[in-house]
Amino acid sequence: MNITNLLICVLCVLPIYTASASEQVIQQRLADYRATGAADFDATRGAALWQQSHVQAKLGKAVSCRSCHSTQLQHTGQHLRTGKLIEPMAPSVNPERFNDSKKIEKWFKRNCKWTWGRECTAQEKGDLLTFLQSQ
Ligand code: HEC
Repeated sequence: MNITNLLICVLCVLPIYTASASEQVIQQRLADYRATGAADFDATRGAALWQQSHVQAKLGKAVSCRSCHSTQLQHTGQHLRTGKLIEPMAPSVNPERFNDSKKIEKWFKRNCKWTWGRECTAQEKGDLLTFLQSQ
């Protein structure tokens, strides 16, 4: 193999190794959501869901995903009830985000129930992840 071929070869496999863990995990989540019947995902719809507020029965006041995750995804959030700090959600500033499918599903389940009083659908989770990934 001459040097040019070798270079081309290295360049074409490089993206596979440099794709971040979160990108791969998110792609897998989206594929799973599609397999359950979700259509295409949309970051704008995800952003709207992220801001949507609902009156939380126990608190008696309106809450949204931003109530704990901060209005700026690049900033540290704070748990509404416990005051515990929550690392930024944007993968651009927090590479630890969205790198574990189990963690994503666990928190979607818990937080959708807490915030909206019900679980998120596969379509909503896909839209939300598409939005969050872009931040
Ligand atoms: C009552 C506070 C609270 C609210 C409201 C909340 N979250 Fe969270 N969320 C947390 C905490 C605490 C964690 C786990 C700690 C961490 O990941 O930093 C978390 C983690 C997550 C994760 C896992 C991220 C990862 O790195 O895998 C996702 C996804 C998530 N939240 C989505 C949402 C969505 C969508 C909403 C709105 C429907 C929402 N959260 C509302 C507190 C909250």
